[in-house]
Amino acid sequence: MLKNVIEKASVKQKPWPWYGLSDVLDEEQVAEIRAMQFSERERLHGGKRSDNTSVRRFVNEDGPSGLIRLVEELRSKEVQKAIHKKIYKYDGNYSGLYVRVEVLNDKDGFWLKPHCDIGEKLISCLVYVNETDEDENIGTDLYSNSGSTYSLLEPVRTVPFIHNTGYMFSQFDGNGNKVHGLSKGKKIKVERRGLQINYVTFETPWRVYE
Ligand SMILES: [Fe+2]
Repeated sequence: MLKNVIEKASVKQKPWPWYGLSDVLDEEQVAEIRAMQFSERERLHGGKRSDNTSVRRFVNEDGPSGLIRLVEELRSKEVQKAIHKKIYKYDGNYSGLYVRVEVLNDKDGFWLKPHCDIGEKLISCLVYVNETDEDENIGTDLYSNSGSTYSLLEPVRTVPFIHNTGYMFSQFDGNGNKVHGLSKGKKIKVERRGLQINYVTFETPWRVYE
């Protein structure tokens, strides 16, 4: 149950507040993420996910049943409330927003410039699928939020790329910039697979339940 995963998420403060998730996916969902096919098209490695928009895979109405089930949980009022409570410590929900779930399949050479998420993302979350013995260091790097020249900042810590774990944060929790990325030059042996989950202000097939 996703609600339980969120309720028992560990609270981290460095370099800024984020929440560590574990045992997020069931076996069916892991298998579906691993089975998702991606275009063989050559990837560009410019340090932005949007470099490769044409090969991105978002879960839509035709998605596999386990991932649809996950989407339905994310749309539910109880999961909205659990997330809000975890982050803000008081009751609320994400009424009026949409859930977006993307299957990730990053290949060797992939990196992400240190950045803050676009303003349309109210909640940012990644869940790792590591069944290919990837090094833990290919998880997301979190950077200090002091200073403005992000590219010069050292990552403060890496959220380890451990199978079926991940992280969640809100860039609007009042604790300043949440600079994150993936440093250039890390070795991806086979694939950096996982899920990106967001609550967003723009339309997706999945408006949250009121
Ligand atoms: Fe991001």
